Amino acid sequence: MLHFKSQVAVITGAASGLGLVIAHKLLNEGANVGLLDMNESGLLEHFVGNQEQEEVVGVDVTDEMQVQQAVEKVIARFGKIDILINCVGITGITQVKSHEVSSENLRKVMDVNFMSAFYTSKAVLPYMLASNYGRILHVASIAGKEGNAGMLAYSASKAAIIGMTKVQGKEYAETGITVNALAPAVIQTPLVAAMPEAQVRYMTDKIPMKRCGTLEEAANMAAFIVSPENSFTTGFTFDLSGGRATY
Ligand SMILES: NC(=O)c1ccc[n+]([C@@H]2O[C@H](COP(=O)([O-])OP(=O)(O)OC[C@H]3O[C@@H](n4cnc5c(N)ncnc54)[C@H](O)[C@@H]3O)[C@@H](O)[C@H]2O)c1
Repeated sequence: MLHFKSQVAVITGAASGLGLVIAHKLLNEGANVGLLDMNESGLLEHFVGNQEQEEVVGVDVTDEMQVQQAVEKVIARFGKIDILINCVGITGITQVKSHEVSSENLRKVMDVNFMSAFYTSKAVLPYMLASNYGRILHVASIAGKEGNAGMLAYSASKAAIIGMTKVQGKEYAETGITVNALAPAVIQTPLVAAMPEAQVRYMTDKIPMKRCGTLEEAANMAAFIVSPENSFTTGFTFDLSGGRATY
């Protein structure tokens, strides 16, 4: 099924985890995709053989100028941007109480998780406004809705993303552009593998379904959120938490 044929997507964090599977799903469904990640060799490892649909861009998304140039590269290649999916994210140091949190680490996590989503949406929105159409998806986290103890930096950065989603949803509600977020609980990716075991147990124990989400479940929900069919929902944070958040 070529659900996204002739659409152009920009996906950040495309070299690993959620960004990687979502990128493959959109490519398989016909989209042209700008694949952004600082791990350029990781991108080149995963995206070969279907070059006409792919534009690989090595970029540090905490650098606003680099983000602007990456978006211009995608425009030069494909002519428009219909979809932006922000999957970049880091947890920073976890399993620390607030009085032990390093300000430097907090700033870094805010830069990677929040500022990058601001920079990318700021860069693509003028192109979406010009075509009166757009779908923006910021990947947030259950941590942003509930606050995970031991994860101040991560939880606060994801709450900021959810706040920005609400603002952007309202600001562009009459333009054909929707802006939504996704709040997964735990999905096994390199990000989770790098966390202390006790912190991962704290999070998984809270999932009523008593299992982690799968990458396929995340990709399916993301694809729906950025599809043309998802046209009357904006500013909303979709849940993907196996029943942990029922709001
Ligand atoms: N995996 C989970 O359980 C889970 C749960 C909730 C939310 N999330 C969120 O989903 C998103 C994807 O997470 P994942 O588990 O796939 O992580 P991941 O570590 O597998 O992938 C993250 C990608 O982001 C890239 N990246 C990091 N910093 C970057 C930077 N400054 N510039 C460019 N690229 C950069 C990395 O190279 C990597 O390819 C993140 O925002 C994460 O917070 C994940």
